[in-house]
Amino acid sequence: MQTQRPPTRRTFLDGIIGFCSSIAGAAMALPAIAYLWPAARASGAESVELPGAKDMTPGQSAMIRVGSEAVVVVRDRNGFKAFSAVCTHLGCLVKWDAGGKRFLCPCHAAVFDENGHVVSGPPPSPLVKYVTKQVGDAVFVSAA
Ligand code: FES
Repeated sequence: MQTQRPPTRRTFLDGIIGFCSSIAGAAMALPAIAYLWPAARASGAESVELPGAKDMTPGQSAMIRVGSEAVVVVRDRNGFKAFSAVCTHLGCLVKWDAGGKRFLCPCHAAVFDENGHVVSGPPPSPLVKYVTKQVGDAVFVSAA
């Protein structure tokens, strides 16, 4: 018959350190997973009306929130375009440059063209496109 030895101070401390390390690791990993999984951040088929759409003139932009995502909507001569305002590099918010007809990211000087494609800078992919739907004077924006 085998007897069980009582835990020593060393094994007790090893267990506490292991537990604390696991909690710290999970706390660091969860934001990284949320960042790397953008589809998980998008919130389904929510459609948001763009406030003041009928007063926007070609070249103007507006920032709205669709679900949990910041979205920049631009009016051009053909209608409205919408893209996630979240830069695909490290997540800074891009701004519309009406004069240059492009999106600029202030964090690492990235430039996206008017269709959201990367022109220069470190972003690995284009801005995520959103769908716009015009109904009379109202414009609705939703995830693609
Ligand atoms: S976060 Fe936009 S270029 Fe780095």
